[in-house]
Amino acid sequence: MKTLKKKIAAAVYKGIAEIDPAAAVTEKDILSYLAYPPDDKLGDIALPCFRFAKALRMAPPVIASRLADGFECEGVASAETAGGYLNFRIDRAALMRRLFGEINADGLPYGGNDDGAGKTVVIDYSSPNVAKPFHIGHLGTTVIGHSLKKMHEFAGYKCIGVNHLGDWGTQFGKLTVAYRKWGSREAVEEKGIDELVALYVRFHEEAEADPALNDEARAAFTALEHGDPEITALWRWFIDISIAEYKKTYRQLDIEFDYYTGESFYTDKMPAVVDELKSKDLLKLDDGASIVDLEEYGMPPCLILKRDGSTLYPTRDIAAAIYRKETFDFDKCIYVTSAGQSLHFAQWFKVLELMGRDWYKDLVHVPYGTVSLNGSKLATRTGNVVLLKDLFAEAIEKAAAIMAEKNPELAGREDVAESVGIGAVVFYYLSANRMRDINFVLEDALNFDGNTGPYAQYTYARTCQILKKAGEYAPDGFEMNDDEFALCKTLALFPETFDQALAEYEPSIITRYVLDLCAAFNRFYHNCPVLTAGSESVKALRLALTGCTNKVLSSALELICVRHPEKI
Ligand code: ARG
Repeated sequence: MKTLKKKIAAAVYKGIAEIDPAAAVTEKDILSYLAYPPDDKLGDIALPCFRFAKALRMAPPVIASRLADGFECEGVASAETAGGYLNFRIDRAALMRRLFGEINADGLPYGGNDDGAGKTVVIDYSSPNVAKPFHIGHLGTTVIGHSLKKMHEFAGYKCIGVNHLGDWGTQFGKLTVAYRKWGSREAVEEKGIDELVALYVRFHEEAEADPALNDEARAAFTALEHGDPEITALWRWFIDISIAEYKKTYRQLDIEFDYYTGESFYTDKMPAVVDELKSKDLLKLDDGASIVDLEEYGMPPCLILKRDGSTLYPTRDIAAAIYRKETFDFDKCIYVTSAGQSLHFAQWFKVLELMGRDWYKDLVHVPYGTVSLNGSKLATRTGNVVLLKDLFAEAIEKAAAIMAEKNPELAGREDVAESVGIGAVVFYYLSANRMRDINFVLEDALNFDGNTGPYAQYTYARTCQILKKAGEYAPDGFEMNDDEFALCKTLALFPETFDQALAEYEPSIITRYVLDLCAAFNRFYHNCPVLTAGSESVKALRLALTGCTNKVLSSALELICVRHPEKI
């Protein structure tokens, strides 16, 4: 459709030049005016001619009819006027022939492109805080981040996934104190991260009654900063245990990071940042702390050093960005975090600008809204947060129960239940615009009859089963009825849908496209028998449509990190 729209824009441009060679209208303008009418009875693509009224000094209906007169464009069957609109009907067979060729061609996957060839993108995502719970608040950064990585790969970029673990800071002083007072090696070895979180929670409870514990924790962190060997060993151990645990969750999502370079990785890179800020006269003392004043830019100051000289979250981000630029020479570095951190990113992006690093423009913060949970009684062992792994476990359990009922004979049911359970959570999460606050209802996410992951997975599995039964096919013609053509048009929209999702850093655009495609396919399937079609020729065409749907669904689900088994 993208290609066809471009051709139409070129033909319209020629038409406009014939009406008035001096008209201030570009081909790009025309392309942006072309729209898909909500009711396709009028046409497949529409051009609102009032857009040219000013430039041509004519009434829109007059422009429409002048343009329609003798309109010719490859791939367009007719151009008709309706008031101020010029409506185009697509040459159905030509569109399907091209689509079939493109979807089945070797080389670049259909919908993807090589716009990013030779360019590198670093994506900083997930990044939980070690020793604190990996909770559902991290679902957003984890799945949006991974989806953005897949999307950039689909557009030809080289992508580097970085887990910027929160592995440095006073929480390690707290954990060390708690471990020494109430913990044991056996308990941590046995219960892993749950024990670490429990110790951390206990520290906070006990510190309420005994604030001196906080001083002890601060002292322990200072000792860590100075390389105390015993505390350093404990700290490393806590991190290793935590990463092993995170990896279980990442494996369920098919996520692999290129680097687990957490905040601590930048410890030795910080003095250079502080020196540069000093030499560029950007640091100011404020009540003993060192800050960069951002008042002029309407923001509170960016904190660089605490009174005791220790570094802060922004300092580490600045050092990390410089390191990444020097190491990977990225064209873009993307950070996915909750919208609560937007100011933090705006502040230190500004500091880099003031430091004269003109590549600050290539830093992108991608924020998202909050997540809450209701209607589901999840264990909340750690106070009032819901752990991601518990949410996943419950989703898998529920999916398994549904499948035991729906398809008890299915081979490999356990794996499929994992794919369906996790897929349901991810799909549900990625259905809404990322800035929207989400209220999680597991029952809704797992509803096989709703607009859900399982519904999409089920549709995909259906296409696989039809194709398997059919074997080889070769269409000999591409004429189509309305249901067939509606599906063909939806398939043809995939490339531009992908472009838009990438430009807006918005995976939900793809999720909603998957739902549109599933709806078009299921309508087609309901109205047009495939394997029992009236003639071999019709059967081959319908199989071609099914095969195309299968490929596009697979690519789209891949982009939003939803597994798609061949059988459900
Ligand atoms: N660890 C932080 C958190 O859980 C997120 C880190 C995001 N990345 C970054 N470079 N600041 O809130």
